[in-house]
Amino acid sequence: MDWPASYTRGMRRPFVGGNWKMNTGAESAPALAAATVTEVGDAARACDVVVFPPACFLIPVRSALGDAAVGLGAQDVSSEANGAHTGDISAEMLKEIGATWAIIGHSERRRDHGEGDHVVAQKLEMALESGLRAVLCVGETLEERKAGQAHQVTARQLRAACASIRAEQMHDVVIAYEPVWAIGTGVSATPQDAAEAHRMIRRELGILYSPELAQAVRIVYGGSLNAANAAAILADPGIDGGLIGGASLKAGDFAQVVRTAAARGQPQGRH
Ligand code: 13P
Repeated sequence: MDWPASYTRGMRRPFVGGNWKMNTGAESAPALAAATVTEVGDAARACDVVVFPPACFLIPVRSALGDAAVGLGAQDVSSEANGAHTGDISAEMLKEIGATWAIIGHSERRRDHGEGDHVVAQKLEMALESGLRAVLCVGETLEERKAGQAHQVTARQLRAACASIRAEQMHDVVIAYEPVWAIGTGVSATPQDAAEAHRMIRRELGILYSPELAQAVRIVYGGSLNAANAAAILADPGIDGGLIGGASLKAGDFAQVVRTAAARGQPQGRH
């Protein structure tokens, strides 16, 4: 299989995304984008760095990013191509304004908008067919974890989302393991728990596709990842970076995570 620059000589290029969620404003969004570019600096040469502002600020953020090596993504994308879908934004529209990534299946959308496995699968298929790249979020709630179903739930979400995705499309997918109980709580998964979940996801990809593909797909961690805990969590060779919420709103903290991920010494490639 012809893998892109994100997978060269058996190495996965790190990925760090900043999910700004429903934060920032008309002035602070481009300002944060500009500060992120400055703070990240050269570290973006060894790590894919992507920011995900609120949809209404995608255009000013794109302008603020300029030609810097920081990518632009949307926090969601419609499962439909166009038409009567009030409030939705299509993959084509996102591409038209310069976004190249979309987050799909974030637990906050599953929770706030009742997005189930089926719609997540449709969104992933639409995004990839349209030429966007996707960060697919999976992960269990606290109740599911307490019930001993963490791996089962995460694997189910992964299988459902990938059901219609061909192997060659998977190189445009980054999987984010985001245990719901760790999101916005200040309590991250332990490095051991995070590493185990990543191994399970990679095993599952091996079963769904092939061992080679499983080794090539990037799997990143999300959930209270910050400048202080990044080194410990990203130390595991199976964890290829992070998807960051709160800490991505501070350019300096976000850049520290990028530097930590980039220090794994990976090759240059696309962003
Ligand atoms: P926090 O980093 O704020 O916990 O959010 C993680 C997340 O949901 C990223 O998508």
